[in-house]
Formats: sequence, C-alpha cells, structure tokens
Amino acid sequence: MDELKELRIVDNFYQTSSFFPMPTILISTVSESGQTNLGAYSLCFPYYIAGKDYYAMILECRNSSNTAQNILRTKKCALNFITDSRKYFKEAVRLGFPGETTEEKMKNCIFNLIDSKIEPSRPQLVSESFQVFECTWDDSLEDAYQDKAGCLEGYEPPYRNFNGITSKFGAHFILKIDKILMKEKYHKSIINGVNGWNFPSVPVDYGYRDSTNFWCSQFKRPYAEKIPAKDNGDVKSVMYAAERIDPDVKFTEEACAKLTKIPRVFLKAALTQMVNIAKEESITLIDEKALDIINDKRRKEKKK
Ligand SMILES: Cc1cc2nc3c(=O)[nH]c(=O)nc-3n(C[C@H](O)[C@H](O)[C@H](O)COP(=O)(O)O)c2cc1C
Repeated sequence: MDELKELRIVDNFYQTSSFFPMPTILISTVSESGQTNLGAYSLCFPYYIAGKDYYAMILECRNSSNTAQNILRTKKCALNFITDSRKYFKEAVRLGFPGETTEEKMKNCIFNLIDSKIEPSRPQLVSESFQVFECTWDDSLEDAYQDKAGCLEGYEPPYRNFNGITSKFGAHFILKIDKILMKEKYHKSIINGVNGWNFPSVPVDYGYRDSTNFWCSQFKRPYAEKIPAKDNGDVKSVMYAAERIDPDVKFTEEACAKLTKIPRVFLKAALTQMVNIAKEESITLIDEKALDIINDKRRKEKKK
C-alpha cells in the first residue's frame, strides 16, 4: 500500500501543499465609477447554512483587489457560478490577473451582463451563469464596518479574526445571501428532483499550482449512492423512543415504520417536534394520516 507522506504546510496550502476541489465563481461588484467589475474567485464557501437568522457564504480574498475594495465600500456583490466551458475558464483566468482596473479588464469581457434582480444599482449579473447568489456583506460581525476601502498597499494591524481585514494583504467577507437565482433548466432539477442527467456542468478548480497555470477539471456525470437500508428492527426502536416523548400523544406502529429513515441522533428532536404539532392540532394518536398533516406543517414551519 502507498504510504501517506507528510508535506510542509506553507502559504496557500490549499494549492501548494494539497489538492483541494473548489468552485469557479465570478464575483461582480460595483466600481467607484459605477461600472460592474468581475473578479475570479474560488475560495468561497457556505458559512451559515442553518440555525441562524440568515444564510451566508464566506469569501477569502486579497484586500487590495477590486472586489475587496468594492465590497468594503458598497457592501454588495453577486456570486456568478460559471459552467465548465474552456472558453469561460480562459476568460476567468484573464479576469483573475491582479492589478488591472475595472475599465481595463471589462473592456473586452466575453460575458454578458444583466441587471440585478433586486435593485438596478446593485452589481450586474453574468447572464451565462447557471446560478447566481446576490449577497450583502454583513459588516456588523466583528465590528468590521470600521474597515474602510482605500488602502491598496497593505493594511496595518490590528486585524479581525474572520470578517473584514484579517491580515496585511488579506480579507474575509461573510456574505448574507439575499437571493439565489437559477437557470430554468436547473431550477426544474431542484424542484422536480435530480437524476444524474440534469445537473449543471460544474467545473472543479484546483487553483494556481505550478507558478504558470490555473488547473481546472470539467464536469463528469454524477452518480447516486443510496443511504444504508434499515431493517425492521428499527421500527421497534422508533416505537420505543416515540412512547417516551409524551404520555398524552401515542404513535401507531405504521406511523413509526415511516420514521425509520430518520438518523438516530435526530430522532428524539423530530419526534418531540411532531408531538408538539400534534398537540396544537389536538391529535392524540399519530397514525399515518396524522403524520401527513404533521409533516406538512413541519415543512411549512421550516420554510418560514
Ligand atoms: C480561477 C481563479 C480563482 C481565484 N480565486 C481567488 C480567491 O479565492 N481569492 C483571491 O483572493 N484571489 C483569487 N484569484 C485571484 C483573483 O482573481 C485576482 O486577485 C484578481 O485580481 C481579482 O480581480 P479583482 O481585482 O477585479 O477583484 C483567483 C483567480 C482565478 C483565475
């Protein structure tokens, strides 16, 4: 067997000391002259995904870039996810060359820009994207509103830990997602269910790795892997847990049989939520029909 060999951890370890799969995103922001700027970014990942008042992404970025400066000044940006066309990646690499002004880099840009779906003064969107997140920087976290645009030669300390100017040349931005927009075809995939043939062609970026090239791989059709099937023994364990939630609300065996897919660690919380809804609805016996009513209400509450 091949041994795992240690590598030195150095700056930009995600591309210098490892292979790390990343998205390819063009971030649009508004320049001082009011023109939309596109910068290429890969270090951009989901940050708040549930359990908070809003959903957010995090962006890791050079603080002197047009993008960082525009976010510091205007707070607004749009994350435009491009497909795996080589032509698009070539253009992303061009848009990723540091030091060009917005006017210079956008002059011959191959992408078409359309107005924001929220407000025409916000950054324009790349119409070729398969999906776009329109975002607002949450500058309240870590009091990052104190960080101002205008310093292109490096910021002096003190630095913030995770939001705003985080080092001499670095910045992190927690971006509240205001809107998710999706091309009709893939919108349908999400609403009607994915099947392996209806995914967008998402590229995987491996970053700048040999002091010469950015490396990217094209899309490959995804496959599905079923989660392990549960045997009948699990109905008994669901019934055992269900009986202990509340003496006034009972579950039928048939209803419990429908709940065996809930992972054990979430079971008590899910059953408790069902019992609470049952009580609101004056249901004392949760059978299959009552379960449908309860699950409907749970879905609605989740959406809220
Ligand atoms: C595919 C790709 C991904 C990139 N990802 C990042 C990134 O995540 N963070 C970053 O600071 N720079 C990244 N860069 C470099 C920026 O694109 C570069 O700093 C560029 O000047 C930013 O444009 P802007 O000044 O218009 O914002 C990336 C470049 C490419 C080509």
